[in-house]
Amino acid sequence: MILVIGAGVAGLTAVQHLAAAGEPVTLVTAGRFGTDGIAAGNTALAQGGIAGAVGPDDSPELHMTDTIAAGAGLVDRRAARVLATDGAHRLNALLNDGFAADRDTNGHLELGMEAAHSTARVLHAGEDSSGAALSAFMTSRVQQLINAGAVGLIEQAHLTALCVADGAICGIAYETPSGRQRLNADAVVLATGGYAGLYSTTSSSAAVTGDGLLAAARAGAVVADLEFVQFHPTVLPTTGELISEAVRGTGAVLRDPNGERFMDQVHPGAELAPRDVVSRASTELMRRFATEHIWLDATVIETHFGAGTLATRFPTLTQRLAAQGIDWSRHYVPVAPAAHYCMGGVATDTFGRSSVPGLFAAGEVASTGVHGANRLASNSLLEGLVFGARTALAAQQYRGTGVWATESPFRKFIDAPSAMRAQRSGPRGANGDAHQLTQLRKLVGAHLGIPRDAASLQRLQSQLNTVQHPLRELVSLMASAALSRTESRGGHWRTDYPEADSRQAARSAWRLDTTQQT
Ligand code: SIN
Repeated sequence: MILVIGAGVAGLTAVQHLAAAGEPVTLVTAGRFGTDGIAAGNTALAQGGIAGAVGPDDSPELHMTDTIAAGAGLVDRRAARVLATDGAHRLNALLNDGFAADRDTNGHLELGMEAAHSTARVLHAGEDSSGAALSAFMTSRVQQLINAGAVGLIEQAHLTALCVADGAICGIAYETPSGRQRLNADAVVLATGGYAGLYSTTSSSAAVTGDGLLAAARAGAVVADLEFVQFHPTVLPTTGELISEAVRGTGAVLRDPNGERFMDQVHPGAELAPRDVVSRASTELMRRFATEHIWLDATVIETHFGAGTLATRFPTLTQRLAAQGIDWSRHYVPVAPAAHYCMGGVATDTFGRSSVPGLFAAGEVASTGVHGANRLASNSLLEGLVFGARTALAAQQYRGTGVWATESPFRKFIDAPSAMRAQRSGPRGANGDAHQLTQLRKLVGAHLGIPRDAASLQRLQSQLNTVQHPLRELVSLMASAALSRTESRGGHWRTDYPEADSRQAARSAWRLDTTQQT
């Protein structure tokens, strides 16, 4: 039996491919599948769309080049090539399977422009509700497989541990409303998403807090690049509502409190510079003006393309902003950067294989190196499609042969520091107490936000001892990784080391000392 944990795009892709290959597969979801199972994850929240080289003026080579350039020197070229090349095939397969992407009146795909892309290559659906459309499409496909008995389903299951025997994964432990359970498996595919929900200011679902990643680390898996968190530049500070980058891709600009544009002074790409650059510049500006937000001016889109364009091209956002009392066709929108996506995760090769035999990871929970230090816009849904499928193939091979071969770049890793080991005596288990999670989020926001420095990160490490929550162990790993990287790069900005250091242009890998696990 192969267990797939998580019902976002990566998990559902893996399930579909495993079922198509006739593998015995069970999907394990945190919520109810098809309803809150979708709402709890991040796939359905994606707005902009799915990047992919499917346009007439595009090529996988160009997509790969843009992915590498956005990644600030840390992208694994092999992973980027796989993403761009397989990605074009996967998108075409998705369209052939009936996914209703938005098209113009001639039936041609409408491809959007987003930051750091050299051409318009973002396929979208439902205009600005691409993630919800993809999620619904894939959920209905998997639901058919479940109904036909080709896929098993366990719902409302919170993963608490990965079980290891003789050095290989042999199952999972989880909690349901009716109690603690264990389930044996030949292989486990983690598709549990990232850890941006550990931030109090985030565009992520609050339910996505890195539990799967922590379970993998506790099972002895090498984890990588945990210091790299992507902060999306345009999030509504009051609600955490994402204002898609596609809005800037269509012409919206950022303005300071005086109403002046500033990104054109910072980077040749101006508002369409890579996300890390825009978020850092916005944060610096907010500090200089002592303000909690900057302005997103989308009125220019109406001026340029005509009245009503915003409501037509961004209907969901128009409605959501109206619900907040904002008519963005006439007024600027207050926005600020917020945690959005995690480049760090379980270190895997391009087939989702981790350092622990039988454990696979795909999607945001994995760190293949494909995003380097800063992910290119709209590459995340594509990542789920591409690596979900490749992971299914490798899991199928592993179950058939029992042979574990990995191309992982991480033969070397740092053991978790002793201060962290001391914390291992803290509480373990399910979600922990909600109040403690709130405390943890406050600490993460205060010390692991866009600007970091050694003193603040050290304070975080000592204050973690006051929080009684299992996820503090993951936060401690993030802090250790952030402390160790004494340079600024991509999503990691050290104010005490403000420049990139070419000697540190390598990914970082860590492993918890599992010998001390109880
Ligand atoms: C957005 O629509 O701006 C988010 C897309 C992404 O995170 O890639």
